[in-house]
Amino acid sequence: MPIEPVAKVSDKVIRKIVFPAAGMGTRFLPATKATPKEMLTVVDRPLIQYGVEEALASGMDDIIMVTGRGKRAIEDHFDISAELEANLHAAGKDELYREVSRVARMASVAYVRQKVAMGLGHAVLCAAPWVGDECFGVSLADELMISDVPVMQQLREKHEESGFSVVALARVPEEDVSKYGIVDVDQEQGGLFRLHGMVEKPEAKNAPSNMAMIGRYIFTPRLFDFLKEGEIGVGGELQLTDAMNTLAKVEPVYGLLVNAERFDAGNPLGFLIANATLGLKNKKYGDLLKAALEKLL
Ligand code: UTP
Repeated sequence: MPIEPVAKVSDKVIRKIVFPAAGMGTRFLPATKATPKEMLTVVDRPLIQYGVEEALASGMDDIIMVTGRGKRAIEDHFDISAELEANLHAAGKDELYREVSRVARMASVAYVRQKVAMGLGHAVLCAAPWVGDECFGVSLADELMISDVPVMQQLREKHEESGFSVVALARVPEEDVSKYGIVDVDQEQGGLFRLHGMVEKPEAKNAPSNMAMIGRYIFTPRLFDFLKEGEIGVGGELQLTDAMNTLAKVEPVYGLLVNAERFDAGNPLGFLIANATLGLKNKKYGDLLKAALEKLL
């Protein structure tokens, strides 16, 4: 049966992007007991700001943040702090003043509350009324991506060519396969893999490939139909992967191996590696950090 194209939605330029940020951050306890994981700082800015800047650089400036209890700091971070700005301005701290006011004005953000952390699929579904009948991005901010062409932009270009959902992929070493959603794919065509299915955290010996989904997605709004129909599974969670598997049965879902330096900053080791790597590259701190590390090693 020919696949019905999604011309109506794909003709539109994507501007909406959902940031699910309501998870419990258990891998990072106790740091995340009272501080949102997304607000943990890599060098000089929180993870969520990297994600938002990547989205803006990709032309996605209509941001929907899914938050929960204990996540107020995210809202405050992207809000105007009149007192702080006035103090910095009065003290002549111009560079800091400019940076603080830039962050507060960089994006229009809508906040949606996920009242119970019922999984990534449920968090994305919470954003459905704000997304409506449009294609949209999803970005997991604890996966930090650094690249010349922003990863969301790489996905967006392929989405505009294909008109369908496109998911960011990376090859992972065998020992890491069981940490990710792993995809089952066709041969690559025009830089894209058509996905037949995805398996959440498989054992390496049962994994359909070594390509993992790495927290950046563009979806057609049809995904919401399958999230709505989805069943709450193990651990009381509605899985995004289950809805994606159903979506892949009714229309193409593609995977793209993206070009980016990637850090899984949602766990302490990945986070330390992200800080060391970006710290060493930082103009202001790089040389000083290198000298300090050389003394330690
Ligand atoms: P993760 O599993 O990486 O985040 O979910 P987590 O649940 O916060 O962390 P751990 O596993 O307990 O250490 C991927 C993304 O989905 C969001 C998280 O905030 C993260 O960005 N998420 C997860 C939600 O928004 N709601 C949920 O119910 C679950």
